[in-house]
Formats: sequence, structure tokens, C-alpha cells
Amino acid sequence: MDLLYIHQPAGKWLDGYRQLERALRDGKARAIGISNFEGKYIEELQYKWETAPQFIQVEAHPYYTQTELRELLDRYGIRLMSWYPLGHGDRALISEPVFVELGAKYGKTPAQIILRWHTQMGFAVIPGSRNVEHIRDNLNILDFTLTDGEMAEIAKLDRGERYYHRTDEQLAQFASWRPSFEKE
Ligand SMILES: NC(=O)c1ccc[n+]([C@@H]2O[C@H](COP(=O)([O-])OP(=O)(O)OC[C@H]3O[C@@H](n4cnc5c(N)ncnc54)[C@H](OP(=O)(O)O)[C@@H]3O)[C@@H](O)[C@H]2O)c1
Repeated sequence: MDLLYIHQPAGKWLDGYRQLERALRDGKARAIGISNFEGKYIEELQYKWETAPQFIQVEAHPYYTQTELRELLDRYGIRLMSWYPLGHGDRALISEPVFVELGAKYGKTPAQIILRWHTQMGFAVIPGSRNVEHIRDNLNILDFTLTDGEMAEIAKLDRGERYYHRTDEQLAQFASWRPSFEKE
């Protein structure tokens, strides 16, 4: 596997993480990661990991740039991978004037400007699309570079607001879930 990761800190996630470390050691995975281990979860994991994850997949886009988490990731050398990179298709994000203007300047669509911003932030990015033209566009973002000034303009959009909320109560529910074939 190129990247093997745990979707969220639920259930016996530490046992799961140990299996990832083993897969990495055994050469079955090229990289290991975690997803949605924000705040206290990544703090807890860092006391227990033998090998730090190379990636963490979390919600990130220009409205929500994960400022706090990124400080922690820099400390441990973990790379951020953005989910909902285009705001899950939110027209408001894709229609922001700054993306329309930069799109006109570089001959790109607003979505391509957003994806280029992700890569220049150092994020790995996984946009979703069911549209062949969009999929082609989303791969075609490496032949131009946003200036520092343009990156700074985009940074002004960060309002610390995520689209998806996962509460501690939801995680507690996941923790009590067991697959039906498991004997009690
Ligand atoms: N780890 C987690 O907990 C977690 C949670 C959520 C999502 N994810 C993953 O993150 C990835 C992306 O999530 P997502 O697809 O929900 O959000 P997204 O990539 O932010 O947005 C997808 C939306 O953007 C549109 N779009 C894509 N490319 C476009 C383009 N070039 N121009 C205009 N519109 C474009 C798509 O419409 P069209 O189909 O029309 O292109 C779709 O409506 C998925 O692989 C998903 O599995 C992970």
C-alpha cells in the first residue's frame, strides 16, 4: 500500500495503530497515517507511537486552515492531507472573488486555484469529483505558482470554520461499536 491509515480515533485505535507500525516495518505499507486525530487524540498518540505517522488526513480548505494543528505537525514532521479541499463543493467557497480573479490571471478555474493553494501550503490534496473534465483540471495545477502576496490574500479567507463537526459523543458511540461477528 502507498498509504495505510486509520480513519478516526475510535474503538481500539491504538491496537490499530500498532498494526500500521508493523505493516510499515514489514514493508507492506510505504507510509502510514491517521485521520481526524485532532487535538487531544494526536497528543495522546504521540506519547505512544514507536513511529510517527507520515500523514494526517483532516478537513482543510481556505475557510479552515488548521492553524493550531499545523504547529503540532511541524514539530513532529507530519504532513497534512486535506479532505473537503474544495469545501465539499460549496459554491460560496469556489465563487470567492479572489479565486475568480486569480483564475482569470493564470488561465485556470477557481477550483484549480484552490487546489494549487493547498499544494503551496504543503498539503497533500484529495479532491473528489464525478466529472471527467474536473478530474483532468484537478490534476493540471502544477504549471503556475501563486505569489506570496496572492497566498497572503487567500489566507484572509480563513475564518476557522469547518463544514463537518464530529463530537466527542459521536466518537464515544463509535468506541462502543463492535462488528457483529465478534464474540462478546
Ligand atoms: N477522512 C475523512 O474523514 C474524510 C471525510 C470527508 C471526505 N474525505 C475524503 O476527501 C475527499 C474529498 O471529499 P469531497 O469530495 O467530499 O469534497 P471536495 O473534494 O472538497 O468537493 C467535491 C465537490 O467539488 C466538486 N468539484 C471537484 N472538482 C471540481 C472542479 N474542478 N471544479 C468545480 N467543482 C469541482 C465536485 O463536483 P463534481 O463531481 O461535479 O466535480 C464535488 O461537488 C474524498 O476522497 C473523501 O473520501 C475524507
